[in-house]
Amino acid sequence: MSDLAARPIDPVVGRPTAHESARLHVTGRAVYTDDLAALRAGVLTAWPVQSTHTHAHVTLDVLGAYSVPGVVRVLTAEDVPGVNDAGVKQDEPLFPSEAMYRGHALAWVLGETPEAARLGAAAVTVDYAPLPSIVTITEAIAAGSYQGAARTVARGDAEGALAAAPVVFEGVTEFGGQEHFYLETHASLAHIDSEGQVFVESSTQHPSETQEIVAHVLHVPSNRVTVQQLRMGGAFGGKEMQPHGLAAIAALGAMLTGRPVRLRLTRTQDLTMTGKRHPFHISWRAGFEPDGTLLALDATLTSDGGWCLDLSEPVMSRALCHLDNAYWIPNVRATGRVAQTHKTSNTAFRGFGGPQGVFLIEDILGRAAPALGVDPAELRRMNFYRPGQATPYGQVVKDAERMPAIWDRLRAEADVDRRQAGIAQFNAAHEDTKRALAMTPIKFGISFNFTAYNQAGALVHVYKDGSVLVNHGGTEMGQGLHTKMLQVAATALGVPLSVVRLAPTRTDKVPNTSATAASSGADLNGAAVKNACDQIRERMRPVAAGLLEADAADVVFAGGTVSAGGRSVPFTEVVSASYFARVQLSQAGYYRTEGLHWDIERMQGSPFKYFSYGAAATEVEVDGFTGEYRIRRVDIVHDVGDSLSPQIDLGQVEGGFVQGLGWLTLEELRWDETDGPGRGRLLTTSASTYKLPSFSEMPEEFSVHFYADAREDGAVYGSKAVGEPPLMLAFSAREALREAVAAFGPGGRTVELASPATPEAVFWAIEAAR
Ligand code: MTE
Ligand code: MOS
Repeated sequence: MSDLAARPIDPVVGRPTAHESARLHVTGRAVYTDDLAALRAGVLTAWPVQSTHTHAHVTLDVLGAYSVPGVVRVLTAEDVPGVNDAGVKQDEPLFPSEAMYRGHALAWVLGETPEAARLGAAAVTVDYAPLPSIVTITEAIAAGSYQGAARTVARGDAEGALAAAPVVFEGVTEFGGQEHFYLETHASLAHIDSEGQVFVESSTQHPSETQEIVAHVLHVPSNRVTVQQLRMGGAFGGKEMQPHGLAAIAALGAMLTGRPVRLRLTRTQDLTMTGKRHPFHISWRAGFEPDGTLLALDATLTSDGGWCLDLSEPVMSRALCHLDNAYWIPNVRATGRVAQTHKTSNTAFRGFGGPQGVFLIEDILGRAAPALGVDPAELRRMNFYRPGQATPYGQVVKDAERMPAIWDRLRAEADVDRRQAGIAQFNAAHEDTKRALAMTPIKFGISFNFTAYNQAGALVHVYKDGSVLVNHGGTEMGQGLHTKMLQVAATALGVPLSVVRLAPTRTDKVPNTSATAASSGADLNGAAVKNACDQIRERMRPVAAGLLEADAADVVFAGGTVSAGGRSVPFTEVVSASYFARVQLSQAGYYRTEGLHWDIERMQGSPFKYFSYGAAATEVEVDGFTGEYRIRRVDIVHDVGDSLSPQIDLGQVEGGFVQGLGWLTLEELRWDETDGPGRGRLLTTSASTYKLPSFSEMPEEFSVHFYADAREDGAVYGSKAVGEPPLMLAFSAREALREAVAAFGPGGRTVELASPATPEAVFWAIEAAR
């Protein structure tokens, strides 16, 4: 079997390839989960009865719904044959007796039409016995309202080092959450087949877990439930944990009525019912040498978990594992805890806590630089990890030399030194408009912290006509995973892309899969697909050698042709000959990442296979009268290893950056925090009140370069994961805004910038800086 990272001659991986569904996407013909409902007859629609209180005991009277024409059934707790819970922590009742947030689904109405179901839901009477509520993180901290386990990452003696440090800064860093705003809202479609098997189409990043939850709720074994996922219109982590309960409702409805049930959240339902990126509140102290060398960090991180745990604990673990970002901090003590509030349950979102950890150290460095009198870019570079150094959780930083190499290449590509001189001149000449250019790095750990998730399966069939069908355990959410998997299969079998087809992800084809998350979809599933294809190819090799009258070792599979010693035969001919020779042409593939270990109690180990590196330089221009700003230019150098699919990776880098830019500069979730009757209500419940990045926010100039000669030995065909890390390159924009704000003042002073750094926040920061 060939080595995982080596590339054959003339591989299909590495070629710029359009997304396999690009044409369908742009012509509007791509089919998503809810579109499938239109293809079935007799489909019922499920509609939620949502709580209008933020926290209350509830008693339901569903009778009224049955007088609405077209209402078929109301689903309540009594209908659940199995476990009345939608999560894996058993803290997420599917039909609650206590409304834990405003918008909480208390019951579901099935109707012949969406309209009937909606009117039926409105006719359910809910009796509320209101309870006190906690809405903000600070209220939760004051009340001691926490959930799950607190964790601490520690190395050295943070306390002693801070006491001895020549320069100590302290502060509180707070920032908001982020709405996923995937174009496709959550959707499920369930039916029961002739044999009583439950079949669920779900917009889920984690089909196996959706299958498990459906099975628990229905009280049937997993072999009675199949979950299929064709494609998602974006997920971004929001469909890792949150689809399970919705799929269970659809499945329960189908089981009780014998009819297919569709459940698709409206945008407002999706916004008011599903979780978002965790906001954080962090108090910290950081010690430095006078020259800027980092000595110590002590921090307490509190995330807003919302009403139940969901993925809040692992999100916090990743935050704690990323608050070093690319920097060597000899003494660290950081404790993370999850607050419980009466809001939607916050969940995975691109970066999975990593961005929240990185936020802290970038904020500290951004605040400290002017007070230390050190150039911010220099302050960052001088603190980069050196080869051989380890993270606070004890993992040696592999390929640490890539970070300064990427940084210096970015400086050159972006012409930073010359432009900084120009910016200084511009600022001297303009009193009310200031520009700034900032650079920030990213180092991001690849693999799931939870070791068991680092495995994947695939199922590959080569049919007698030479066409290839690939199943794997990953899901497609627009990130191009399927495109990469097609390229991997074509490379491993030595055939053109056109003969390989990818089948929808299904739990009855590849079982016990992990979520497509942690950016590791291509690493894990790619290695499993390659493993299956390698086995089939190696079994065909002796057959080919016979046809070519050559040594088996000399046979090369490439481009649909099998050749050796100057002779060649078409791949299809070798397939046919293999079939007649009774060679197995179908194979399950499997992969697990070796060399990982993680002790969650001690928060120590080597949880990551490798690190992804990158750096960005962003230039902004800020208007001193209004705080409005423009992103003038962005340059990125990013390490994707030897890219599996450069065009896909480019899209991921650009898209990730812009999504990070949205989080840090525009997107503001507002909740009613007053004591009035609206307390706990989400105020930003549509795209008109929740500002998303659009064309007008795109950087005016945007260049992305891949770090060259970047083969990653531990991953499929030498590639690296790309899905999440580029999001954190957007800190360069936030730091550029901070530096532009500083330019309005006398200099040498710390600038505190609220997050998101909206024009309003920038305006107030300028007022303070002046
Ligand atoms: N890109 C698009 N277009 N849509 C998405 O939903 N999700 C992101 C990232 N890129 C996402 C995306 C997240 S949160 C992750 S973890 C990865 O893709 C998951 O896919 P991968 O592991 O195949 O990179
Ligand atoms: Mo991504 S947040 O790991 O789904």
